[in-house]
Amino acid sequence: MSEQQEQRATFSSRKAFIFAAIGSAVGLGNIWRFPYVAYDNGGGAFVIPYLVALLTAGIPLLLLEYAIGHRYRGSPPLAFRRVRKWLEPLGWWNVMTNVVICIYYAVILGWAASYTWFSFTAAWGADPQAFFYNDYLRMAKDPGVSLDMVWPVFLPLLGVWLFTIAIIVLGVQKGVARSSAVFMPLLVIMFLIMVGVALTLPGAAKGLDALFTPDWSKLGDSGVWIAAYGQIFFSLSICFGIMVTYSSYLKKKSDLAGTGLVVGFANSSFEVLAGIGVFAALGFMAQAAGKEVSEVAASGLGLAFVAFPTIINQAPFGTLLGLLFFASLVFAGITSMISIVEVIVAAVQDKWRLGRVSATLAVGIPMMIVSSLLFGTTTGLPVLDVLDKFVNAYGIVASGFLYVLLMAATKTLPKLAAHINGISSFKVGKIWYACVAATFGILGYMLVSDSISLLDKNYGGYPDWFLNIFGWGMSLALVAGGLLLSALPWKKEEPFDADAEDVKGDEK
Ligand code: ALA
Repeated sequence: MSEQQEQRATFSSRKAFIFAAIGSAVGLGNIWRFPYVAYDNGGGAFVIPYLVALLTAGIPLLLLEYAIGHRYRGSPPLAFRRVRKWLEPLGWWNVMTNVVICIYYAVILGWAASYTWFSFTAAWGADPQAFFYNDYLRMAKDPGVSLDMVWPVFLPLLGVWLFTIAIIVLGVQKGVARSSAVFMPLLVIMFLIMVGVALTLPGAAKGLDALFTPDWSKLGDSGVWIAAYGQIFFSLSICFGIMVTYSSYLKKKSDLAGTGLVVGFANSSFEVLAGIGVFAALGFMAQAAGKEVSEVAASGLGLAFVAFPTIINQAPFGTLLGLLFFASLVFAGITSMISIVEVIVAAVQDKWRLGRVSATLAVGIPMMIVSSLLFGTTTGLPVLDVLDKFVNAYGIVASGFLYVLLMAATKTLPKLAAHINGISSFKVGKIWYACVAATFGILGYMLVSDSISLLDKNYGGYPDWFLNIFGWGMSLALVAGGLLLSALPWKKEEPFDADAEDVKGDEK
Protein backbone atom coordinates (compact mmCIF):
# COMPACT_ATOMS: atom_id res chain seq x y z
CA MET A 1 0.00 0.00 0.00
CA SER A 2 1.30 3.48 -0.74
CA GLU A 3 2.30 5.89 2.00
CA GLN A 4 -0.94 7.72 1.29
CA GLN A 5 -3.61 6.11 3.39
CA GLU A 6 -5.98 4.42 0.96
CA GLN A 7 -7.92 1.95 3.04
CA ARG A 8 -8.53 1.98 6.73
CA ALA A 9 -6.16 -0.32 8.58
CA THR A 10 -7.75 -3.28 10.37
CA PHE A 11 -6.95 -5.61 13.22
CA SER A 12 -6.42 -9.06 11.75
CA SER A 13 -8.82 -10.75 14.17
CA ARG A 14 -11.07 -10.23 17.16
CA LYS A 15 -8.28 -11.63 19.32
CA ALA A 16 -5.89 -8.94 18.07
CA PHE A 17 -8.41 -6.26 18.99
CA ILE A 18 -9.00 -7.79 22.43
CA PHE A 19 -5.27 -7.78 23.16
CA ALA A 20 -4.97 -4.17 22.05
CA ALA A 21 -7.99 -3.08 24.10
CA ILE A 22 -6.74 -4.90 27.19
CA GLY A 23 -3.28 -3.46 26.56
CA SER A 24 -4.80 -0.01 26.60
CA ALA A 25 -6.88 -0.66 29.69
CA VAL A 26 -4.31 -2.38 31.88
CA GLY A 27 -1.85 0.31 32.85
CA LEU A 28 -0.52 2.33 35.73
CA GLY A 29 -4.09 2.83 36.91
CA ASN A 30 -4.45 -0.88 37.63
CA ILE A 31 -1.18 -1.37 39.45
CA TRP A 32 -0.62 1.76 41.44
CA ARG A 33 -4.03 3.31 41.69
CA PHE A 34 -6.57 0.54 42.23
CA PRO A 35 -5.05 -1.10 45.33
CA TYR A 36 -5.03 2.13 47.29
CA VAL A 37 -8.41 3.37 46.03
CA ALA A 38 -9.97 0.07 47.10
CA TYR A 39 -8.25 0.13 50.48
CA ASP A 40 -9.12 3.75 51.16
CA ASN A 41 -12.76 3.38 50.16
CA GLY A 42 -14.06 0.54 52.27
CA GLY A 43 -11.66 -2.33 51.52
CA GLY A 44 -13.74 -5.47 50.97
CA ALA A 45 -16.90 -3.35 50.89
CA PHE A 46 -15.49 -1.46 47.87
CA VAL A 47 -16.33 -4.55 45.81
CA ILE A 48 -19.93 -3.37 45.70
CA PRO A 49 -19.50 0.17 44.30
CA TYR A 50 -16.69 -1.11 42.09
CA LEU A 51 -18.82 -3.86 40.52
CA VAL A 52 -21.76 -1.51 40.19
CA ALA A 53 -19.50 1.02 38.43
CA LEU A 54 -18.09 -1.65 36.14
CA LEU A 55 -21.49 -3.03 35.16
CA THR A 56 -23.48 0.19 34.99
CA ALA A 57 -20.87 2.60 33.61
CA GLY A 58 -17.71 0.79 32.53
CA ILE A 59 -19.13 -1.82 30.19
CA PRO A 60 -22.06 0.29 28.88
CA LEU A 61 -19.75 3.19 28.00
CA LEU A 62 -17.17 0.86 26.55
CA LEU A 63 -19.90 -0.41 24.22
CA LEU A 64 -20.98 3.13 23.43
CA GLU A 65 -17.44 4.01 22.39
CA TYR A 66 -17.01 0.82 20.40
CA ALA A 67 -20.24 1.53 18.58
CA ILE A 68 -19.27 5.12 17.73
CA GLY A 69 -15.91 4.11 16.32
CA HIS A 70 -17.21 1.04 14.57
CA ARG A 71 -20.33 2.53 13.02
CA TYR A 72 -18.72 5.78 11.91
CA ARG A 73 -15.32 4.26 11.18
CA GLY A 74 -12.99 6.95 12.33
CA SER A 75 -10.81 8.40 15.03
CA PRO A 76 -12.86 10.72 17.29
CA PRO A 77 -12.80 13.85 15.03
CA LEU A 78 -13.86 11.88 11.95
CA ALA A 79 -16.35 9.67 13.77
CA PHE A 80 -18.09 12.60 15.49
CA ARG A 81 -18.04 14.64 12.29
CA ARG A 82 -19.81 11.77 10.58
CA VAL A 83 -22.48 11.86 13.27
CA ARG A 84 -22.92 15.63 12.74
CA LYS A 85 -20.41 18.04 11.23
CA TRP A 86 -20.63 20.38 14.18
CA LEU A 87 -19.53 17.62 16.56
CA GLU A 88 -16.00 17.54 15.17
CA PRO A 89 -14.58 19.77 17.97
CA LEU A 90 -15.56 17.13 20.54
CA GLY A 91 -13.29 14.70 18.72
CA TRP A 92 -10.38 17.12 18.64
CA TRP A 93 -10.91 17.91 22.29
CA ASN A 94 -10.44 14.19 22.90
CA VAL A 95 -7.29 14.25 20.82
CA MET A 96 -5.90 17.22 22.75
CA THR A 97 -6.63 15.40 26.01
CA ASN A 98 -4.56 12.49 24.80
CA VAL A 99 -1.74 14.85 23.83
CA VAL A 100 -1.55 16.13 27.40
CA ILE A 101 -1.81 12.67 28.94
CA CYS A 102 0.89 11.04 26.82
CA ILE A 103 3.26 13.91 27.52
CA TYR A 104 3.31 13.02 31.21
CA TYR A 105 2.47 9.31 31.02
CA ALA A 106 5.77 8.80 29.15
CA VAL A 107 7.86 10.20 31.95
CA ILE A 108 6.39 7.84 34.53
CA LEU A 109 7.25 4.95 32.25
CA GLY A 110 10.76 6.36 31.93
CA TRP A 111 11.10 6.41 35.73
CA ALA A 112 9.78 2.86 35.97
CA ALA A 113 12.29 1.73 33.34
CA SER A 114 15.11 3.37 35.34
CA TYR A 115 13.90 1.75 38.53
CA THR A 116 13.84 -1.67 36.84
CA TRP A 117 17.53 -1.13 36.26
CA PHE A 118 18.10 0.32 39.75
CA SER A 119 16.54 -2.82 41.25
CA PHE A 120 19.65 -4.85 40.40
CA THR A 121 21.78 -2.86 42.81
CA ALA A 122 19.13 -1.20 44.99
CA ALA A 123 20.64 2.05 43.72
CA TRP A 124 18.25 4.08 45.88
CA GLY A 125 20.25 3.21 49.02
CA ALA A 126 18.87 3.35 52.52
CA ASP A 127 16.56 6.32 52.01
CA PRO A 128 14.43 5.74 48.89
CA GLN A 129 12.36 8.86 49.51
CA ALA A 130 15.32 11.22 49.50
CA PHE A 131 16.82 9.35 46.56
CA PHE A 132 13.68 9.68 44.42
CA TYR A 133 12.97 13.34 44.95
CA ASN A 134 16.44 14.78 45.51
CA ASP A 135 18.96 12.54 43.82
CA TYR A 136 17.00 11.06 40.95
CA LEU A 137 14.43 13.73 39.99
CA ARG A 138 16.53 16.58 41.39
CA MET A 139 13.21 18.24 42.04
CA ALA A 140 13.25 22.03 42.21
CA LYS A 141 12.30 23.42 45.63
CA ASP A 142 9.48 25.59 44.29
CA PRO A 143 7.04 24.85 41.49
CA GLY A 144 8.31 26.51 38.34
CA VAL A 145 9.75 25.83 34.91
CA SER A 146 13.43 25.32 34.25
CA LEU A 147 15.66 24.02 31.50
CA ASP A 148 18.09 22.47 33.93
CA MET A 149 18.35 19.00 32.39
CA VAL A 150 18.29 15.85 34.48
CA TRP A 151 19.91 13.34 32.16
CA PRO A 152 19.03 10.11 34.03
CA VAL A 153 15.38 11.15 33.69
CA PHE A 154 15.66 12.61 30.19
CA LEU A 155 17.30 9.60 28.51
CA PRO A 156 14.82 6.87 29.51
CA LEU A 157 12.01 9.29 28.70
CA LEU A 158 13.45 9.70 25.23
CA GLY A 159 13.68 5.91 25.00
CA VAL A 160 9.98 5.53 25.83
CA TRP A 161 9.06 7.99 23.09
CA LEU A 162 11.29 6.40 20.47
CA PHE A 163 9.87 2.98 21.29
CA THR A 164 6.27 4.22 21.15
CA ILE A 165 6.87 6.00 17.85
CA ALA A 166 8.52 2.89 16.38
CA ILE A 167 5.58 0.67 17.35
CA ILE A 168 3.03 3.09 15.94
CA VAL A 169 4.97 3.47 12.71
CA LEU A 170 4.71 -0.31 12.30
CA GLY A 171 0.95 0.05 12.00
CA VAL A 172 -2.28 -1.06 13.61
CA GLN A 173 -1.81 -4.81 13.30
CA LYS A 174 1.97 -5.23 13.18
CA GLY A 175 2.68 -2.56 15.78
CA VAL A 176 -0.25 -1.81 18.07
CA ALA A 177 -1.89 -5.24 18.19
CA ARG A 178 1.29 -7.29 18.09
CA SER A 179 3.02 -5.34 20.84
CA SER A 180 0.02 -5.92 23.13
CA ALA A 181 -0.08 -9.59 22.17
CA VAL A 182 3.52 -9.86 23.35
CA PHE A 183 3.47 -7.55 26.37
CA MET A 184 0.16 -8.58 27.93
CA PRO A 185 0.91 -12.31 28.37
CA LEU A 186 4.42 -11.43 29.57
CA LEU A 187 2.94 -8.98 32.02
CA VAL A 188 0.53 -11.55 33.42
CA ILE A 189 3.31 -14.12 33.87
CA MET A 190 5.66 -11.62 35.54
CA PHE A 191 2.94 -10.24 37.72
CA LEU A 192 1.76 -13.67 38.84
CA ILE A 193 5.31 -14.49 39.92
CA MET A 194 5.54 -11.12 41.68
CA VAL A 195 2.30 -11.79 43.55
CA GLY A 196 3.51 -15.31 44.40
CA VAL A 197 6.73 -13.92 45.90
CA ALA A 198 4.85 -11.16 47.74
CA LEU A 199 2.46 -13.67 49.29
CA THR A 200 5.36 -15.60 50.84
CA LEU A 201 6.65 -12.52 52.69
CA PRO A 202 6.14 -12.38 56.45
CA GLY A 203 3.25 -10.01 57.16
CA ALA A 204 1.57 -10.59 53.78
CA ALA A 205 -1.62 -11.78 55.49
CA LYS A 206 -1.74 -8.58 57.50
CA GLY A 207 -1.69 -6.60 54.26
CA LEU A 208 -4.47 -8.68 52.74
CA ASP A 209 -6.54 -8.31 55.89
CA ALA A 210 -6.18 -4.54 55.63
CA LEU A 211 -7.19 -4.58 51.97
CA PHE A 212 -10.13 -6.94 52.20
CA THR A 213 -11.66 -6.26 55.62
CA PRO A 214 -14.93 -4.61 54.67
CA ASP A 215 -15.95 -1.29 56.13
CA TRP A 216 -19.63 -1.37 55.26
CA SER A 217 -20.24 2.09 56.71
CA LYS A 218 -18.37 3.54 53.73
CA LEU A 219 -21.13 2.48 51.37
CA GLY A 220 -23.20 5.44 52.53
CA ASP A 221 -20.49 7.88 51.49
CA SER A 222 -20.97 9.39 48.03
CA GLY A 223 -17.20 9.95 47.78
CA VAL A 224 -16.68 6.20 47.77
CA TRP A 225 -19.04 5.73 44.85
CA ILE A 226 -17.36 8.54 42.92
CA ALA A 227 -13.99 6.92 43.59
CA ALA A 228 -15.29 3.66 42.14
CA TYR A 229 -16.59 5.34 38.99
CA GLY A 230 -13.41 7.40 38.61
CA GLN A 231 -11.30 4.27 38.89
CA ILE A 232 -13.37 2.44 36.29
CA PHE A 233 -13.20 5.31 33.77
CA PHE A 234 -9.45 5.73 34.02
CA SER A 235 -8.65 2.08 34.25
CA LEU A 236 -10.81 0.94 31.34
CA SER A 237 -9.50 3.84 29.20
CA ILE A 238 -13.03 5.04 28.49
CA CYS A 239 -13.90 8.61 27.49
CA PHE A 240 -10.36 9.02 26.10
CA GLY A 241 -11.48 8.31 22.51
CA ILE A 242 -9.11 5.35 22.45
CA MET A 243 -11.88 2.82 22.10
CA VAL A 244 -13.50 4.88 19.34
CA THR A 245 -10.22 4.74 17.47
CA TYR A 246 -9.51 1.06 18.09
CA SER A 247 -12.98 -0.09 17.13
CA SER A 248 -12.72 1.85 13.86
CA TYR A 249 -10.06 -0.73 12.94
CA LEU A 250 -12.36 -3.69 13.60
CA LYS A 251 -13.83 -5.66 10.74
CA LYS A 252 -17.44 -4.88 10.08
CA LYS A 253 -18.95 -8.01 11.54
CA SER A 254 -17.44 -8.00 14.99
CA ASP A 255 -19.05 -9.08 18.22
CA LEU A 256 -18.86 -5.71 19.98
CA ALA A 257 -20.87 -6.57 23.08
CA GLY A 258 -19.11 -9.88 23.74
CA THR A 259 -15.74 -8.20 23.28
CA GLY A 260 -16.66 -5.45 25.73
CA LEU A 261 -17.45 -8.02 28.40
CA VAL A 262 -14.15 -9.83 27.88
CA VAL A 263 -12.15 -6.60 28.05
CA GLY A 264 -14.03 -5.24 31.06
CA PHE A 265 -13.65 -8.38 33.14
CA ALA A 266 -10.03 -9.01 32.11
CA ASN A 267 -9.09 -5.50 33.19
CA SER A 268 -10.82 -5.83 36.55
CA SER A 269 -9.31 -9.26 37.19
CA PHE A 270 -5.86 -7.82 36.69
CA GLU A 271 -6.74 -4.97 39.00
CA VAL A 272 -7.73 -7.32 41.83
CA LEU A 273 -4.54 -9.31 41.30
CA ALA A 274 -2.55 -6.09 41.59
CA GLY A 275 -4.36 -5.29 44.83
CA ILE A 276 -3.35 -8.66 46.28
CA GLY A 277 0.31 -8.29 45.25
CA VAL A 278 0.68 -4.70 46.39
CA PHE A 279 -1.02 -5.18 49.75
CA ALA A 280 0.86 -8.41 50.50
CA ALA A 281 4.07 -6.41 50.00
CA LEU A 282 2.77 -3.47 52.08
CA GLY A 283 1.84 -5.92 54.86
CA PHE A 284 5.44 -7.05 54.91
CA MET A 285 6.65 -3.46 55.00
CA ALA A 286 4.34 -2.63 57.90
CA GLN A 287 5.37 -5.70 59.88
CA ALA A 288 9.09 -5.07 59.29
CA ALA A 289 8.71 -1.48 60.53
CA GLY A 290 6.46 -2.44 63.44
CA LYS A 291 3.72 -0.18 62.03
CA GLU A 292 0.12 -0.51 60.95
CA VAL A 293 -0.64 -1.07 57.27
CA SER A 294 -2.51 2.24 57.31
CA GLU A 295 0.76 4.01 58.10
CA VAL A 296 2.62 2.62 55.10
CA ALA A 297 -0.16 2.31 52.51
CA ALA A 298 0.27 4.65 49.57
CA SER A 299 -0.60 4.98 45.92
CA GLY A 300 0.91 6.51 42.81
CA LEU A 301 4.41 7.84 43.01
CA GLY A 302 4.75 7.18 46.73
CA LEU A 303 3.83 3.53 46.31
CA ALA A 304 5.99 2.81 43.30
CA PHE A 305 9.07 4.90 43.91
CA VAL A 306 9.26 5.08 47.69
CA ALA A 307 7.36 2.17 49.30
CA PHE A 308 8.44 -0.50 46.84
CA PRO A 309 12.14 0.35 47.02
CA THR A 310 11.84 0.20 50.82
CA ILE A 311 10.24 -3.23 50.56
CA ILE A 312 12.89 -4.38 48.09
CA ASN A 313 15.65 -3.28 50.51
CA GLN A 314 14.30 -5.51 53.25
CA ALA A 315 12.52 -8.44 51.63
CA PRO A 316 13.93 -11.85 50.91
CA PHE A 317 14.15 -12.07 47.08
CA GLY A 318 13.97 -8.27 47.08
CA THR A 319 15.84 -7.87 43.80
CA LEU A 320 13.52 -10.29 42.04
CA LEU A 321 10.49 -8.56 43.50
CA GLY A 322 11.78 -5.18 42.36
CA LEU A 323 12.59 -6.33 38.86
CA LEU A 324 9.18 -7.92 38.43
CA PHE A 325 7.30 -4.98 39.89
CA PHE A 326 9.00 -2.24 37.88
CA ALA A 327 9.14 -4.24 34.66
CA SER A 328 5.40 -4.91 35.10
CA LEU A 329 4.78 -1.17 35.40
CA VAL A 330 6.70 -0.63 32.17
CA PHE A 331 4.95 -3.43 30.27
CA ALA A 332 1.49 -2.45 31.49
CA GLY A 333 2.10 1.24 30.85
CA ILE A 334 3.75 1.08 27.45
CA THR A 335 0.72 -0.53 25.78
CA SER A 336 -1.51 2.16 27.33
CA MET A 337 0.92 4.84 26.13
CA ILE A 338 0.80 3.39 22.61
CA SER A 339 -3.00 3.52 22.66
CA ILE A 340 -3.02 7.13 23.79
CA VAL A 341 -0.63 8.23 21.03
CA GLU A 342 -2.52 6.14 18.46
CA VAL A 343 -5.62 8.35 18.89
CA ILE A 344 -3.60 11.41 17.93
CA VAL A 345 -1.88 9.78 14.97
CA ALA A 346 -5.16 8.32 13.70
CA ALA A 347 -6.89 11.71 13.89
CA VAL A 348 -4.14 13.42 11.89
CA GLN A 349 -4.16 10.59 9.36
CA ASP A 350 -7.91 10.83 8.95
CA LYS A 351 -8.05 14.58 8.51
CA TRP A 352 -5.03 15.20 6.35
CA ARG A 353 -4.86 11.83 4.60
CA LEU A 354 -1.28 11.35 5.70
CA GLY A 355 0.52 8.04 5.56
CA ARG A 356 1.28 6.20 8.76
CA VAL A 357 4.94 7.16 8.93
CA SER A 358 4.46 10.84 8.14
CA ALA A 359 1.55 11.21 10.57
CA THR A 360 3.41 9.46 13.39
CA LEU A 361 6.53 11.57 12.94
CA ALA A 362 4.55 14.78 12.47
CA VAL A 363 2.90 14.44 15.86
CA GLY A 364 5.30 12.11 17.68
CA ILE A 365 8.42 14.23 17.38
CA PRO A 366 6.94 17.53 18.64
CA MET A 367 5.28 15.71 21.55
CA MET A 368 8.53 13.95 22.34
CA ILE A 369 10.34 17.30 22.45
CA VAL A 370 7.76 18.98 24.68
CA SER A 371 7.58 15.97 26.98
CA SER A 372 11.37 15.73 27.26
CA LEU A 373 11.80 19.43 27.94
CA LEU A 374 9.02 19.59 30.50
CA PHE A 375 9.87 16.41 32.33
CA GLY A 376 13.51 15.71 31.57
CA THR A 377 14.36 18.75 33.66
CA THR A 378 14.01 19.79 37.28
CA THR A 379 10.53 21.20 36.40
CA GLY A 380 8.99 17.73 36.57
CA LEU A 381 6.71 16.72 39.35
CA PRO A 382 4.44 19.69 40.16
CA VAL A 383 3.62 20.15 36.47
CA LEU A 384 2.81 16.47 36.16
CA ASP A 385 0.58 16.57 39.21
CA VAL A 386 -1.40 19.58 38.02
CA LEU A 387 -1.76 18.38 34.41
CA ASP A 388 -3.00 15.00 35.64
CA LYS A 389 -5.57 16.47 38.01
CA PHE A 390 -7.03 18.94 35.53
CA VAL A 391 -6.94 16.77 32.44
CA ASN A 392 -8.84 14.06 34.28
CA ALA A 393 -11.59 16.50 35.18
CA TYR A 394 -11.72 18.67 32.05
CA GLY A 395 -10.50 16.15 29.50
CA ILE A 396 -11.87 12.77 30.45
CA VAL A 397 -14.86 13.34 32.72
CA ALA A 398 -16.09 16.35 30.75
CA SER A 399 -15.79 14.64 27.39
CA GLY A 400 -17.51 11.51 28.71
CA PHE A 401 -20.37 13.74 29.85
CA LEU A 402 -20.55 15.33 26.40
CA TYR A 403 -20.34 11.98 24.59
CA VAL A 404 -23.57 10.87 26.25
CA LEU A 405 -25.28 14.25 26.06
CA LEU A 406 -24.54 14.78 22.38
CA MET A 407 -25.23 11.22 21.27
CA ALA A 408 -28.60 11.50 22.99
CA ALA A 409 -29.32 15.03 21.69
CA THR A 410 -28.59 14.01 18.09
CA LYS A 411 -30.75 10.88 18.49
CA THR A 412 -27.72 8.75 17.73
CA LEU A 413 -28.06 6.45 20.77
CA PRO A 414 -30.75 4.23 19.18
CA LYS A 415 -28.64 3.92 16.04
CA LEU A 416 -25.66 2.87 18.12
CA ALA A 417 -27.76 0.34 20.02
CA ALA A 418 -29.10 -1.08 16.77
CA HIS A 419 -25.58 -1.23 15.42
CA ILE A 420 -24.34 -3.21 18.43
CA ASN A 421 -27.36 -5.50 18.27
CA GLY A 422 -26.92 -6.17 14.56
CA ILE A 423 -23.52 -7.77 15.02
CA SER A 424 -23.13 -8.85 18.65
CA SER A 425 -23.61 -12.10 20.52
CA PHE A 426 -25.98 -10.44 22.98
CA LYS A 427 -28.29 -7.49 22.66
CA VAL A 428 -28.38 -4.21 24.47
CA GLY A 429 -31.74 -2.75 25.34
CA LYS A 430 -33.53 -0.76 27.98
CA ILE A 431 -30.99 -1.63 30.65
CA TRP A 432 -28.20 -0.25 28.50
CA TYR A 433 -30.07 3.03 27.99
CA ALA A 434 -30.74 3.26 31.71
CA CYS A 435 -27.07 2.66 32.52
CA VAL A 436 -25.90 5.24 30.00
CA ALA A 437 -28.36 7.77 31.44
CA ALA A 438 -27.25 7.05 35.01
CA THR A 439 -23.61 7.38 34.00
CA PHE A 440 -24.39 10.74 32.46
CA GLY A 441 -25.71 11.90 35.83
CA ILE A 442 -22.66 10.58 37.65
CA LEU A 443 -20.24 12.21 35.21
CA GLY A 444 -22.09 15.51 35.65
CA TYR A 445 -21.89 15.18 39.41
CA MET A 446 -18.17 14.39 39.24
CA LEU A 447 -17.56 17.40 37.03
CA VAL A 448 -19.40 19.76 39.34
CA SER A 449 -17.82 18.44 42.54
CA ASP A 450 -14.31 18.53 41.00
CA SER A 451 -14.90 22.10 39.83
CA ILE A 452 -16.16 23.20 43.22
CA SER A 453 -13.11 21.83 44.98
CA LEU A 454 -10.67 23.18 42.38
CA LEU A 455 -12.24 26.65 42.55
CA ASP A 456 -12.53 26.59 46.31
CA LYS A 457 -8.86 26.29 47.14
CA ASN A 458 -5.62 26.05 45.23
CA TYR A 459 -5.09 22.45 44.23
CA GLY A 460 -2.05 20.97 46.00
CA GLY A 461 -1.26 24.38 47.51
CA TYR A 462 0.36 25.47 44.24
CA PRO A 463 0.55 29.23 43.52
CA ASP A 464 -2.13 30.90 41.39
CA TRP A 465 0.10 31.62 38.41
CA PHE A 466 1.16 27.99 38.26
CA LEU A 467 -2.41 26.66 38.34
CA ASN A 468 -3.52 29.31 35.88
CA ILE A 469 -1.01 28.05 33.33
CA PHE A 470 -0.85 24.29 33.80
CA GLY A 471 -4.33 23.73 35.20
CA TRP A 472 -6.93 26.22 33.98
CA GLY A 473 -4.86 27.43 31.03
CA MET A 474 -4.21 23.91 29.83
CA SER A 475 -7.91 23.01 30.22
CA LEU A 476 -8.94 26.02 28.14
CA ALA A 477 -6.28 25.15 25.58
CA LEU A 478 -7.92 21.74 25.16
CA VAL A 479 -11.15 23.39 24.13
CA ALA A 480 -9.52 26.13 22.06
CA GLY A 481 -7.32 23.54 20.34
CA GLY A 482 -10.39 21.45 19.63
CA LEU A 483 -12.17 24.36 17.96
CA LEU A 484 -9.11 25.50 16.05
CA LEU A 485 -8.26 22.08 14.65
CA SER A 486 -11.87 21.61 13.59
CA ALA A 487 -11.74 24.88 11.68
CA LEU A 488 -8.88 23.65 9.48
CA PRO A 489 -9.98 22.23 6.13
CA TRP A 490 -10.14 18.49 5.47
CA LYS A 491 -8.10 17.00 2.71
CA LYS A 492 -10.30 14.97 0.39
CA GLU A 493 -13.20 14.05 2.60
CA GLU A 494 -14.82 10.80 1.52
CA PRO A 495 -18.63 10.67 1.40
CA PHE A 496 -19.92 8.35 4.12
CA ASP A 497 -23.35 6.93 4.75
CA ALA A 498 -23.52 5.08 8.05
CA ASP A 499 -27.04 3.80 7.38
CA ALA A 500 -26.01 2.24 4.11
CA GLU A 501 -22.95 0.72 5.77
CA ASP A 502 -25.16 -0.79 8.46
CA VAL A 503 -27.37 -2.54 6.00
CA LYS A 504 -24.61 -3.72 3.72
CA GLY A 505 -22.28 -5.32 6.27
CA ASP A 506 -19.57 -7.59 4.90
CA GLU A 507 -17.78 -10.82 5.49
CA LYS A 508 -15.93 -11.64 8.71
N1 ALA B 1 -6.20 2.69 31.35
C1 ALA B 1 -4.87 3.15 31.48
C2 ALA B 1 -4.34 2.96 32.85
O1 ALA B 1 -4.95 2.33 33.66
C3 ALA B 1 -4.76 4.57 31.03
O2 ALA B 1 -3.28 3.41 33.15
